[in-house]
Amino acid sequence: MSDSSRSVKGLTALVTGAASGMGRATAEVFAAEGANVAVTDYTLEGAEAVAKDIVAKGGKAKAWKLDVGDKAEIETVVAAIAKHFGGLDAVVNNAGISGFTQIDNEGYDELWERMIRVCLTAHQRIIRAALPFLRKSKNPRIVNIASTEALGATALDSAYSAAKAGVTGLTRALAVELGKEGITVNCVCPGPILTGMTKAIPDDQKEIYAKRRTALRRYGRPEEVAHITVSLCMPAASYITGVTIPVDGGLMARNA
Ligand code: NAI
Repeated sequence: MSDSSRSVKGLTALVTGAASGMGRATAEVFAAEGANVAVTDYTLEGAEAVAKDIVAKGGKAKAWKLDVGDKAEIETVVAAIAKHFGGLDAVVNNAGISGFTQIDNEGYDELWERMIRVCLTAHQRIIRAALPFLRKSKNPRIVNIASTEALGATALDSAYSAAKAGVTGLTRALAVELGKEGITVNCVCPGPILTGMTKAIPDDQKEIYAKRRTALRRYGRPEEVAHITVSLCMPAASYITGVTIPVDGGLMARNA
């Protein structure tokens, strides 16, 4: 056995969209495992509430306002995070939005532009801003959150599906490009998860969908995705890169 560690203790992780859902759970799991966590979200209040909660439980976290749709803010905030913690080891591109409309509906172009900016362009911008710091890390990790909508599709969800499929392509390309530097780049594709994004779906509709589509017959909990994301950032996960992992209760595996 080598000394590969299953611990992220002492590493610094940046999580986007960490005020809610899977981002919040990811920040909490990192902190519970002893990592320093940069909790970032669209509003400072949202991020601060999570960071405060983590610190109250004995974890190490600090909040930043980071709108992932804002290029200048990304550059400033990523540098500030690395400065504050004295480096950066892991980046989790988690922030995302949803939006359904028919391809020929009015407003489609605006939805498309926003979706690509927040769910795809943001990932590459954050990675580019983080690279100088990741290059100095002994355990450099990038995890991009896509969706099972990147692997299959739902009607009226084409902008989201296109952005998320782009994330899987970006993941593979950067894994290949950055592999020689020891930087791993992986992608997690959540299935139906109980978060802010799915809150408006009535419980009975959720149950019907989960029973019809997933092998486990239920929605997932945010922490069930967070554990996989954090696992990909462990020193022990040093030989996995360029993969897209569905965390979907068996949704992609199920035909009938
Ligand atoms: P959520 O709505 O609970 O959390 C999303 C977070 O992202 C929120 O805190 C929100 O403020 C933040 N956010 C939105 N726009 C932002 C921006 N421009 N800058 C910074 N932060 C921003 O949703 P959830 O489900 O936890 O979403 C996390 C990721 O998982 C997203 O990328 C989403 O597309 C993806 N996903 C969610 C699924 C689900 O069933 N909930 C399924 C598959 C993927």
